[in-house]
Amino acid sequence: MKKNYSNIYSFNKKIIKKTVNFLKLNNIVGLPTETVYGLAGNAYSDKAIKKIYSLKKRPRRNPLIIHYYNYEKAKKDVYFNKNFFKLYKRFCPGPITFVLKKNKNSNISSLATASLNTVAIRFPKHRVIKTLLKFLSFPLAMPSANISSGLSPIDAFNVFEEFKKKLKIIIDGGRSKIGIESTVVDLTNHPKILRPGIISPNEIKNILKTNFSKKKINLRSPGMMKKHYSPGIPVIIGQKPKNINHAYIVFGKRFKSSKNYFNLSKKGDLKEAAANLYKIMRKIKKNGFKKIYVSKIPSFGPGIAINDRLSRASK
Ligand code: TXA
Ligand code: MG
Repeated sequence: MKKNYSNIYSFNKKIIKKTVNFLKLNNIVGLPTETVYGLAGNAYSDKAIKKIYSLKKRPRRNPLIIHYYNYEKAKKDVYFNKNFFKLYKRFCPGPITFVLKKNKNSNISSLATASLNTVAIRFPKHRVIKTLLKFLSFPLAMPSANISSGLSPIDAFNVFEEFKKKLKIIIDGGRSKIGIESTVVDLTNHPKILRPGIISPNEIKNILKTNFSKKKINLRSPGMMKKHYSPGIPVIIGQKPKNINHAYIVFGKRFKSSKNYFNLSKKGDLKEAAANLYKIMRKIKKNGFKKIYVSKIPSFGPGIAINDRLSRASK
């Protein structure tokens, strides 16, 4: 399928070398991660960061996640704390992002952090991005590879659909296994989940042995924006479709198959449902449905993240 797209490359030594050189020149590339595909650039370069914001049409006040090979490489950019190390040991590399205080000696472009005194950092697991981060002397700022407020891409072709030939390199690393964005946890004060993900609040609570802060969020971050994760057509939650021009997203065994029914997981597995969510929403849009109705999805584990994304998509 990918062969026709001259800017989509398979993963091999040659493309890694080419991409490393390209990133060193502060260019932007499309890369796979285990959560979703990202738009990557040198986090230490204002020039690269400006390109990311302009490609994504992202408001400048919304900070980016900075991706590292391991914590050693992040040492001079942030201040670590005990909670960080507990979660790092258990979940990294993996689908979790930590908000920490920015180190005074940090080289991260202040454009990437929207001039905040905090930084969101992540240690991705996918072998393509890990290989690149290992060879690079700088971390990668990497938002999801979609135009601002749309659905995150989960394969190389989705990235192509968003940016076409505006990207010179998109590396194909297969379908993102997790399929939704990382869990974002603020560790600057009392721990707080800013964006739920496949790693659930309970799993994090169990490691930190603490409850989360109930304080109202006043952080400036795109995950907090009302309209986000939108498929581009109306999404209505908790109601049945009115006619067959409306798609119905369902979950579990009790739904029979029908032309306009899209089951996130027939066997009722929430992890599988999360992995299918954006794929199904893109498919519904492509098939020309005018509206998406969504049945009730259980609200525990990965279900918390699924409901979060659906509720933002419905705003
Ligand atoms: O799974 C992921 O996290 C993907 C892959 C590509 O790594 N990236 C991603 O980035 O989802 P993006 O830009 O689409 O979302 C960034 C999120 C925002 O929702 C925002 O809340 C949070 O990271 N964020 C970044 N910097 C922050 C900061 N200093 N304080 C609070 N939140 C921050
Ligand atoms: Mg995003």
